[in-house]
Amino acid sequence: NHGNEYACWLQYNKIKESAWMEEYKTWCSNLVVVENSEVINSAKAELLRGISSMLGFNPSVLMEPQQKTLIMLGTIGKTDLLDNRINKQEFEHLNPDGYVIKTVTVGEHNRLLLIGKTEKGALYAAFHLLRLMQTRKHLHNLDIIQNPKNPLRMINQWDNMDGSIERGYAGKSIFYENNKITTRLDRIKDYARLLSSVGINAIAINNVNVHQVETKLTTSEFLPDVAKIADIFRAYGIRTFLSINYASPIQIGNLPTADPLEPKVREWWRERVEEIYRYIPDFGGFLVKADSEHRPGPFTYNRNHADGANVIAEALNPFGGLVIWRCFVYNCLQDWRDRSTDRAKAAYDHFKPLDGKFLDNVILQIKNGPMDFQVREPVSPLFGAMENTNQMLEFQITQEYTGQQRHLCYLVPQWKEVLDFDTFAKGEESTVKRIVDGSLFQYSNCGITAVSNIGNDTNWTGHTLAQANLYGYGRLTWDPDLSSEEITDEWVRQTFGHDPLVVEQIGKMLMDSWRIYENYTSPLGIGWMVNPGHHYGPNVDGYEYSVWGTYHYADCHGIGVNRTVKDGTGYTGQYFPPNAQIYESLESCPDELLLFFHHVPYTHRLKSGKTVIQHIYDTHFDGVEQAEGLKQRWTSLKGKIDDARYDSVLKRLNEQIEHAREWRDVINTYFYRKSGIPDEQNRTIY
Ligand code: GCU
Repeated sequence: NHGNEYACWLQYNKIKESAWMEEYKTWCSNLVVVENSEVINSAKAELLRGISSMLGFNPSVLMEPQQKTLIMLGTIGKTDLLDNRINKQEFEHLNPDGYVIKTVTVGEHNRLLLIGKTEKGALYAAFHLLRLMQTRKHLHNLDIIQNPKNPLRMINQWDNMDGSIERGYAGKSIFYENNKITTRLDRIKDYARLLSSVGINAIAINNVNVHQVETKLTTSEFLPDVAKIADIFRAYGIRTFLSINYASPIQIGNLPTADPLEPKVREWWRERVEEIYRYIPDFGGFLVKADSEHRPGPFTYNRNHADGANVIAEALNPFGGLVIWRCFVYNCLQDWRDRSTDRAKAAYDHFKPLDGKFLDNVILQIKNGPMDFQVREPVSPLFGAMENTNQMLEFQITQEYTGQQRHLCYLVPQWKEVLDFDTFAKGEESTVKRIVDGSLFQYSNCGITAVSNIGNDTNWTGHTLAQANLYGYGRLTWDPDLSSEEITDEWVRQTFGHDPLVVEQIGKMLMDSWRIYENYTSPLGIGWMVNPGHHYGPNVDGYEYSVWGTYHYADCHGIGVNRTVKDGTGYTGQYFPPNAQIYESLESCPDELLLFFHHVPYTHRLKSGKTVIQHIYDTHFDGVEQAEGLKQRWTSLKGKIDDARYDSVLKRLNEQIEHAREWRDVINTYFYRKSGIPDEQNRTIY
């Protein structure tokens, strides 16, 4: 037991308030579980762990409901004991993994039913009950029906087998060390518990950039160990996936080619997949980064992405496996002098023409942000543009461009905006969340995935408050209609308890933090302006004269990328109307995305009434003050939070303030020197 830092939101701290204690004790003294399966056993174990820790006694586990008041856990259709107590029709409308939590009273008998449509549903119901208790909700008169909106609720680990994590900011990998799979499986089990408690049901366990050793994860050299990891996740309802190297047939198969249309290559994938399923019968499938940032892919053989994905999908199909094919494909050797190539357009240009060409067990994984996980970007125009091709959404929980877990940046409000964005692909209400949950176009496979933010730091996420991003991500994949406020409140109570000041102050810190980070970093949707390579800290021209296609085009007159159809790159034309028109026109383009879509003079007036240059100055001065405000809120909680967590967060907030000042001064100075326009308020700019 490493304490509250390690336990995250599954602390199950002893309940002191006597009224709650009495109520929970009444319900939780007896637990009836008649089924016996791995997943049900995980649910049972979690209930026992949570209840004994919160209430201080071990509930009796019974096979028969003899007691007056008790909890019953199970799956619908498995035993009359449960079926007789509930209207089975309620389950007909549930998605797999859905569940019902209900308190029923028959005569003298009170029953709290936790019933899943599947055994995974029962596991989620158990976690839900524990959440109710941890957030101090009454258990009388429960009548809850829960239905996960997204079929796939996934996590991508960018872990390498040498133990490093690409874009990891919380220590080393919990999965690998010294080019082997770890033997510390207890930590992986705790990770599985955390993920499952928020509804995650799939995980790709290695980096999308698949290097030499990792290529062999699909072979008998490593499969026995991969199978051990899959066993752990399976017990928590999570399917294991591997990221693969598209050149595997060459690198490990000794074939001269990886051409997807070559029969020998096809045969090779089939054999590979067969072997994997011998070790892992419910293996999820492959995640593929191909023809992207120097990774191999079908382009080498003049084949397109559909050819590339389908050959692997064919091999996986008999076993129910999926190919998750990333759309992060763009020219990463661009000439900065060439203004016609636009990285933001690339995914749409590459994939839209292939609509309908992918097999049913292929899903296209589309990044949030047509560029790359920036603090503010428009939604990718590819969402909704492929009616006949399964799509899923990729977020980045790890804070590569949002402060690398040194800064507080709570991303749930950003993700909500993306999910709620109306693409108008099929008229009004064609929101991103309805596209990726499959309801708009009846996709057979779809959902949401995200790059994890965890490592082997004791608190998993480096910044303790960054745990909220992992929690909130999972909750949103289950139900994108939850509000940011609800998710935040749940997380704070489970993580820091119920003191009203704690709940209020931490809630405000989280809810304001994305905007604050945006304020003192790159303005008005332009993005980047970071140090090349590691991407931490300000460097306005860091990428300006490079090959990556990430430019701001600032000169002494103005700034921004002209992506209009009229006289720019034409990117706005990739959106459906009316979004296309809204972004195309300077008048209607929202302020926060202005420089993403338009090149304007510094004197251009925003809808806020400020000029662009004054907006840059003001937000950067404000941003630093707001960062200082975060610290004030936190220090007002001294004594209400354990020292370890209090001190470690305080340290990071201090660093954030220092670093926000650096951002402010570099950005303001750069634009003052470029434009020559003084600050209206005469503040210090260097
Ligand atoms: C970003 C990130 C890379 C990563 C890439 C990807 O560009 O900086 O480290 O490999 O995204 O998503 O594939």
